[in-house]
Amino acid sequence: MVHKPATQIIFDDANTILKSGKVIGLPTDTVYGLAADARSDLAVAEIYALKSRPSFNPLIIHVQDLQQAQRYGEFNAEAIRLAQHFWTPSKTASALTIVVPYKKDSGISSLALAGLDTIALRVPNHTLALKVLSQFNGPLAAPSANPSNCLSPTTAEHVRTAFPGLPILDGGTCTIGIESTIVWCKDDGVLLLRPGIVTQEDLKVIVPVQKFIPGQDDAPQAPGSLKKHYAPKTPMVINMTKPLPGDVYIGFGPDYPSSMNLSETGDLKEAAGNLFRYLHTADTQNKQRIAIAPIPDSGIGQAINDRLSRGIK
Ligand code: TXA
Ligand code: MG
Repeated sequence: MVHKPATQIIFDDANTILKSGKVIGLPTDTVYGLAADARSDLAVAEIYALKSRPSFNPLIIHVQDLQQAQRYGEFNAEAIRLAQHFWTPSKTASALTIVVPYKKDSGISSLALAGLDTIALRVPNHTLALKVLSQFNGPLAAPSANPSNCLSPTTAEHVRTAFPGLPILDGGTCTIGIESTIVWCKDDGVLLLRPGIVTQEDLKVIVPVQKFIPGQDDAPQAPGSLKKHYAPKTPMVINMTKPLPGDVYIGFGPDYPSSMNLSETGDLKEAAGNLFRYLHTADTQNKQRIAIAPIPDSGIGQAINDRLSRGIK
């Protein structure tokens, strides 16, 4: 008999558990999610409880394709262009979440939307996640599978450690490794709410896009911009050209070497992929501090620095 750890489930179980209104750990292209039926207040409430997530912080709703997304959201021309470009499974950089006006009474739990009149929708570019969505045949609310304010999970083991006993579908290590880019498609233009592997430059090829500056009059509730987030338990410092005694050092590129180097060649995509995994590892080493090498603040580097700057205590 094949040994199956108590919390590891197989594909067929996933649908049964989701249909019964319970939560599973679901692999995606970016990070693991805590997934449940987005139409069920009870299922969604369980996600919030598991994560200790404040109820004002809405969840991303995962769907199979643009057609399913349009059942729940009003897509204007720019939103459609973005979805058509980035939600094509063959695209390598498709980790994009699109915020659009919510189609009132289309059935999503208002708890999942935190009472907002907008909805964040995403098609994960992950074979297993898409298979689950297709079999479930409904929308899945799925925030990252970490307790609120902690590091995001990029392996099933991270999820298992954070939520012992939770049924988890193991899809291996997430290839992208940081959460999706989030854009808000408004009538008067597109705002970048959370940087990610899809960069502002990538987006600009498709539609004009402005970076969201918190504090504007029409400031959206984009708690992805909550200040403290993604924090390891160990204190962390960034922009360190070398470690001090007592530090565990995470390097970057040939100029800032370390046995834990986000990318020896200085490749930002590779660095993003390793970021949370290395932070999880560094966090278990009982060092006084985690020190991180400087990361160039351009392209994907902006997403990495965004996550790092929120992890500083
Ligand atoms: O890559 C990802 O996006 C992962 C995987 C699991 O899909 N999910 C993820 O979810 O990162 P979470 O909950 O950790 O982050 C979602 C972010 C939150 O910061 C939330 O505030 C924001 O999306 N959000 C959700 N609905 C929104 C809305 N209607 N308007 C603005 N921001 C929204
Ligand atoms: Mg998260």
